[in-house]
Amino acid sequence: MKQANFLVGLSFLSLVLCVGPARAMADPPAEAAELDVAGLIKPVLVESCLDCHGPAAQLGGLRVDTLQALLEGGVSGPAIVPEKPEESSFYVRVTLPADDFQMMPLGADPLPEEVQQQIRRWIELGAPWPDGMHMGDAPEPEADDAAGVESPESEAEALRQLTAAGAIAMRIAQNTSWIRVDFSLKPDAFQEQHLELLAHMPNLYELNLANTAITDAGLRSLRSASNLRRLYLQNTGITDAALESLAGLQHLRYLNLYGTSVSDAGLVHLQQLAALERLFLWQTAVTEQGASTLREVVPEVEINLGL
Ligand code: HEC
Repeated sequence: MKQANFLVGLSFLSLVLCVGPARAMADPPAEAAELDVAGLIKPVLVESCLDCHGPAAQLGGLRVDTLQALLEGGVSGPAIVPEKPEESSFYVRVTLPADDFQMMPLGADPLPEEVQQQIRRWIELGAPWPDGMHMGDAPEPEADDAAGVESPESEAEALRQLTAAGAIAMRIAQNTSWIRVDFSLKPDAFQEQHLELLAHMPNLYELNLANTAITDAGLRSLRSASNLRRLYLQNTGITDAALESLAGLQHLRYLNLYGTSVSDAGLVHLQQLAALERLFLWQTAVTEQGASTLREVVPEVEINLGL
């Protein structure tokens, strides 16, 4: 009993020790507090830049989803030089005239003047980055399905094997059984037989096969991935034929086909994807006309053709 009390006391103490200093550190410096970075800057990065400068693609060699990546920058140097907006290509690019071919966000309308000023201020303040601020690359699960579905034992085994093979294979968050499998950082480790494991993963929520040697035939295994929400196939050798295998994925919300050879003919297979919200087709053979045909059938879908 005494020992139990002691343990309770100890864990209370460690709670205080953990929470105390962490709180103090999380307090932003005085001047940074004047700008709500998570509320103002993050949404701009997520909505206007991340498709081309995030986990899916690093055009110009640039990622914008961590401060370190912004400081390292892209092929032409740092994107952000703290306190110096005029020397930060991030700021310079978003303030170019709309018709300048280097204007960012590429292929979209310029950011509103007010947002440009917030970016300027942010960089002047030294580009404060709130502790733990991270982008994710797509919205979190909706509340109604946040918990995931029942997880059979075979799922844990599949996770173990995928991890052993070099993939990132883990739950997408605490308090959920949804799973993310990502081969994009180790594309050479990917073999099509890994996809057979997906049949044992009812909680497969996000699958990233970017840059891997996935083939049209291999993608057929995805037909059983009925709960899949996000699929990244950019920079792979897949063709229109592959899209037929996706036609039954009724929950698919995000599909990235950037840098593949898919064309208007393939998009026809996507017409049944009623849940589709975002489709990324930068550097494919899809035409504006093919995209608008799809929009007529799936009106909610936001299609990004690049330029
Ligand atoms: C549709 C795709 C696309 C979007 C969206 C986009 N960019 Fe880019 N970005 C590119 C491409 C392609 C390049 C490389 C060619 C170039 O330098 O113009 C580039 C280059 C850059 C560079 C220069 C990198 C270097 O080192 O050369 C910066 C800085 C940049 N983008 C910032 C942004 C910011 C900030 C946003 C969001 C407000 C954004 N981009 C949105 C496609 C995009």
